[in-house]
Amino acid sequence: MIEIAPSVIAGDLADLAGAARIAEAGGADLLHLDVMDGHFVPNLTFGPPVVAALARHTRLPLDVHLMVSDPDRLLAAYLEAGAARVAVHWEAAGHLDRTLAAIRAGGARAGVALNPATPVELLADILHACDFVLLMSVNPGFAGQPFLPYVLDKARRLRDLVHTAGAATTLALDGGVGPGNAGAAAAAGVTTLIAGSSVYQASDPSAAIAALRRRAEEEASS
Ligand code: DX5
Ligand code: ZN
Repeated sequence: MIEIAPSVIAGDLADLAGAARIAEAGGADLLHLDVMDGHFVPNLTFGPPVVAALARHTRLPLDVHLMVSDPDRLLAAYLEAGAARVAVHWEAAGHLDRTLAAIRAGGARAGVALNPATPVELLADILHACDFVLLMSVNPGFAGQPFLPYVLDKARRLRDLVHTAGAATTLALDGGVGPGNAGAAAAAGVTTLIAGSSVYQASDPSAAIAALRRRAEEEASS
């Protein structure tokens, strides 16, 4: 099954509830929230109170992408704010086993995010603890950057690793995702498409969400 997760960072940041309504109206499955700390990435976005406030304005499960150094410090606050899924960066988490267990213990789905340059093979021994892996297809920090196509090969390799491990880990792709690469992403094993600009900059966001889903479903690998 394909899931579409609009990334509100590409929407109207002065109207997050409106951005959530746009995603809901288009039949999105998740709402993606890019948490940036001005340290792990050169940008600052949503603190826990903002996430908690937004949770009161949407029925969509919140997919919280922590682009922060030392995520353990902030984990409890984002879980309490209502995150349904939390991804921490491999590059920022020193004790991944413990961190992933804490996310699950907090009632959320646990994910690991990988920067484009980080090889998927580093996750071979921890897949059992990952509900999902978020593959970054741009360098994290900003919406609207061009898609890095070599990440599709990482998705294929990760899909094979998951299969070999007998794990239930799903693959998410984040950064520069749009109608031109949604099919290739799905063919490579991605089931969660995170899309900022291609949804929120579209003249018809509902149609953009539907087009992403259609292209991905047409090419989805079994
Ligand atoms: C990048 C973020 C992505 C990004 C998505 O740091 O993690 O979620 O904002 O936006 P687009 O789809 O415009 O690349
Ligand atoms: Zn993201």
